[in-house]
Amino acid sequence: MGDLTEAAGCVRPADGFDLDVTQTDLAAPTRLDAASLDLLFAGARTTNTFTPEPVDPDVVHRAYDQLRWAPTSMNIQPLRLTALVSRAARESVVAHLGPRNQAKTLAAPLSVVAAYDPAFHTHLDVLAPHREGLREQLEGQPERRDAMARTNALIQLGYLIVALRAEGLQVGPIGGLDPLGVDAAVHAENGWRTLAVLNLGHAPDPADPTAQRPRAGRLEAAQAVLTR
Ligand SMILES: Cc1cc2nc3c(=O)[nH]c(=O)nc-3n(C[C@H](O)[C@H](O)[C@H](O)COP(=O)(O)O)c2cc1C
Repeated sequence: MGDLTEAAGCVRPADGFDLDVTQTDLAAPTRLDAASLDLLFAGARTTNTFTPEPVDPDVVHRAYDQLRWAPTSMNIQPLRLTALVSRAARESVVAHLGPRNQAKTLAAPLSVVAAYDPAFHTHLDVLAPHREGLREQLEGQPERRDAMARTNALIQLGYLIVALRAEGLQVGPIGGLDPLGVDAAVHAENGWRTLAVLNLGHAPDPADPTAQRPRAGRLEAAQAVLTR
């Protein structure tokens, strides 16, 4: 198998090494400990305003390097990300956010546009070699491609939020925006389609009582999970 590294109970290809599958290492622990689970879920909060400590855009690459292993339908992986590093890029996107989302996005240490690529099928020779002929079939089916890409990129967006939390970041997702306006601002050259903006920081702003809103309720598992 060649150049493999072990991480989090899995054997996976080393960075840049293009293997087709990962393999579970059955000897390794198979469950996260309570502190790790807390970092990702019950202990994590949506954050509106952050301390000014900068967020290095490399963290988005690291989070992507993790989430890319999580599953999508036929392994199509349509999520695409644009880190808004320049002030001009940030302002061009903020102009298309809902009024209550603008100031906090301008002030966030880093903002990332999450989108889907309706031309994901051009990568299927690599991503889905088991589906011979699918790329050619999808070429003439733009509406089917759009639906597949949107659904699966939204699944990857959930993975992304968890992957960013795993990097120790606080995340503030923004869905209240004009997607066509954001597309015109940052996707004119690649045709990607906006799903959301994620604001990222290291900690909530201690001077802002609304940095994190009071935790709202959650459904009990018994309300959401049936056993038949
Ligand atoms: C896809 C998505 C879109 C969201 N859009 C907005 C938004 O436009 N504005 C906003 O203030 N919060 C937005 N939120 C934040 C949610 O309201 C928040 O994550 C949820 O209430 C849970 O909050 P908690 O993590 O503090 O418990 C969004 C969250 C997600 C996942």
